[in-house]
Amino acid sequence: MKPTNAPKTYRVKSFGCQMNVYDGERMAELLGEQGIAPAAEGEDADLVVLNTCHIREKAAEKVYSDIGRIVKRGREAGRQPLIAVAGCVAQAEGEEIMARAPAVGMVVGPQAYHRLPEMLDRAVKGERAADTDMPAIAKFAALPRRKRSAPGAFLTIQEGCDKFCTYCVVPYTRGAEISRPYADLVEEAQKLVEAGAREITLLGQNVSAWSGEDAAGRRIGLGGLIRTLAKVDGLARIRYTTSHPADMDDDLIAVHGEVDKLMPYLHLPVQSGSDRVLKAMNRSHTAESYLKLLERFRAARPDLALSGDFIVGFPGESEAEFADTLALVDAVGYAQAFSFKYSPRPGTPAATMDAQIAPEVMDERLQRLQASLRRDQLAFNEASIGTNCEVLVERRGKRDGQWLGKSPWLQSVHFTGEAEIGDLVRVEMTSAGQQSMGGALLQPAAA
Ligand code: SAH
Ligand code: SF4
Ligand code: F3S
Repeated sequence: MKPTNAPKTYRVKSFGCQMNVYDGERMAELLGEQGIAPAAEGEDADLVVLNTCHIREKAAEKVYSDIGRIVKRGREAGRQPLIAVAGCVAQAEGEEIMARAPAVGMVVGPQAYHRLPEMLDRAVKGERAADTDMPAIAKFAALPRRKRSAPGAFLTIQEGCDKFCTYCVVPYTRGAEISRPYADLVEEAQKLVEAGAREITLLGQNVSAWSGEDAAGRRIGLGGLIRTLAKVDGLARIRYTTSHPADMDDDLIAVHGEVDKLMPYLHLPVQSGSDRVLKAMNRSHTAESYLKLLERFRAARPDLALSGDFIVGFPGESEAEFADTLALVDAVGYAQAFSFKYSPRPGTPAATMDAQIAPEVMDERLQRLQASLRRDQLAFNEASIGTNCEVLVERRGKRDGQWLGKSPWLQSVHFTGEAEIGDLVRVEMTSAGQQSMGGALLQPAAA
């Protein structure tokens, strides 16, 4: 690699989960501290960070084709940007990326991106650098303070996963479970609110596995953390994602009934409704234990909206086992859900299991599952018509005077009238679609 001018502009492209979005924002803040500005919309950046996801399908191939596209564009423009590959593909395939893609100047894993500035100095001198160490907690301490925030902010409180579901790469790309210290989280939440956040979503690959010591030295879990954060002035809403059914304790369930700021929404992935498949997935819960758990949450917070993740076509999944998943969906009535075709991930136990399911069978099952999930989502939205709720205004809509925001149940709501981004306004739900609600402004935000 030839030495190059120090980049003046950057662009961070994040793929995958919300934690990658959080990481992408933090990398942008770090680059901002180096005096590098975000590239204007439509303009080429001097530094492109591809913040990648490895969870499904041809993730790595996609990265190579993105790199190819950036190089081609650079050739046409007569100026090659510096390319950094970050995120979970960087962690899983860092060395291979360095070997296969000479255009890439930096490879940086999800636990090492706080070292981006040093790597950048080396890259400018013409030295390619890769860092996929996993120093766990060190990253957060090395990141700059939060200065600006959208009304809805993410806050990573826990990272990594020790669950080792047999299909999943996350334990390998994000490392072992770690919890960020209580005091750091309270401080970051306060800074986010000062920077403009009204709602904070606490993030973790297993967010309900968070544990720490409060100011009095008592051991607390996620429930205790939520109780403290609810006292942060100016913070109106709290959410958390993603939880694993194994880590949901009594206190967390109770908090749903006690803390108004905690929104009535729970994303609790189940993956399958078949106990045999769940066992083969190493999920540690059964369909019944999952349903019982949901009942307890609903008892604490009767208007709780539920969301889940599903995988169809796990190796060996029979038609009858898939039907168990459909039955579970019917039993729960999800307000939202994410469903995926099983994708063999290199290095995971499931990838080499017998009886891999044919793609056309997976396609067909996914369609049937999604039809059920769409039916329930629409029913949930239709049942909201005529009710009113607070909406957090997040951005302008496509039409003149239109605003888009989120209901407590994470529905997207559009309405027209007087509002500002960051307001909490009262809206009556007047129409329901599959993905969003139409509403009428009842009461603008209090000044
Ligand atoms: N930690 C969370 C979610 C992690 S990944 C949890 O345990 O629930 C998000 C979702 O991607 C998973 O819930 C699962 O539904 C899906 N997923 C993960 N690995 C997959 C794979 N190999 N093929 C298809 N879907 C997968
Ligand atoms: Fe992956 Fe399972 Fe861990 Fe979730 S709990 S990140 S699905 S291994
Ligand atoms: Fe993807 Fe890594 Fe998140 S694999 S889903 S970006 S933890």
